[in-house]
Amino acid sequence: MFSSDELSSLRWDPVRGSVEIIDQTLLPHTLRRCHLDTLSDFCHAISTMQVRGAPLIGIAAAFGLARALSEDGSSKNLESARSRLLGTRPTGANLRWALDAICAAVGDLEPDRRGEAALARAIAMRSEDIAQCARIGEHGLTLLRRIEFGERLNIMTHCNAGWLATIQWGTALAPVYKAVAAGIPVHVWVSETRPRNQGMNLTAWELQRAGVPFTIVADNSCGQLMRAGLVDCVLVGSDRTATNGDVCNKIGTYLKALSARDNGVPFYVALPESTIDWNCPAGEAIPIEERDPAEVLTIAGVDAAGEACEVNLAAAGSPALNPAFDVTPGRLVDALVTEYGVYEATPAGLSELRASVYGRR
Ligand code: MRU
Repeated sequence: MFSSDELSSLRWDPVRGSVEIIDQTLLPHTLRRCHLDTLSDFCHAISTMQVRGAPLIGIAAAFGLARALSEDGSSKNLESARSRLLGTRPTGANLRWALDAICAAVGDLEPDRRGEAALARAIAMRSEDIAQCARIGEHGLTLLRRIEFGERLNIMTHCNAGWLATIQWGTALAPVYKAVAAGIPVHVWVSETRPRNQGMNLTAWELQRAGVPFTIVADNSCGQLMRAGLVDCVLVGSDRTATNGDVCNKIGTYLKALSARDNGVPFYVALPESTIDWNCPAGEAIPIEERDPAEVLTIAGVDAAGEACEVNLAAAGSPALNPAFDVTPGRLVDALVTEYGVYEATPAGLSELRASVYGRR
């Protein structure tokens, strides 16, 4: 279910020669796939969050650049398409990582060969993402197996770091799916994740389809649940990780980490290496995306007749601010779970991970 090509957030359609995505802005009420046929389609899908989640954004951008190069492989077009895609969302590290990977794959080629080579690289990146997330799941499972729990293992997550945020499996949800498959009685606390509600709209939808027990809770209830001893660990993803172990994830993650530390609850962050910004020394250097305040002032859903609608929440004319991410200092993170294994969220831990990835230099 969470690891089949049938349910994948993005796939290449070789017959039509284009990319098919699930439009995540319509979930959980409507499951609709749509095709991205032009560079503008890709930029629009990323900036409006039809596709979202740092790893998926990276892969979508890779296919977007390949599409642009298939029409015009000149260096001028390569640079302008890259810059348009890079401007779609500023926080996640995977966007630049994926675009750089495509540029490295095609930079030395003749312009008329670049489109094909870029597409081959994007298709390979998509497959690599599936394998990486499966490995994150296995490494995360080893951590989960060490936790003592009562009747069920209560895992709290935030936002959506499941297969909708990657290609399959997910990052933070990969260990959950692996634990369920291993027969561990898991229950997931899904925090709604205002203002876009990715927890309530996406994570809950994923878990429900996979038959994983879960409960949706208001973001503000998480501290109380931890205090009451109802949370065995917190498991979230990361959009950009600094080399000192600071992690940047969906707004509200930091408050969960603070509360977890105060209550002795382990706080784990699951991420592929592509999420690490090796040029970023600390969380303060990470650009925090500020989205339209309207996302705070309104809420989208369906009415009693099942029709999509949007409701105004605040008094007309109220000002609002909408930072989309926050930074959790590495000192509040008990472990980083990657496809290479489990590491400390410290400069030493990141150096060790870097040595595993690139060899000791
Ligand atoms: O704004 P979004 O929905 O793209 O934010 C997504 C998250 O914050 C996820 O937790 C993050 O990308 C890690 S997921 C693999």
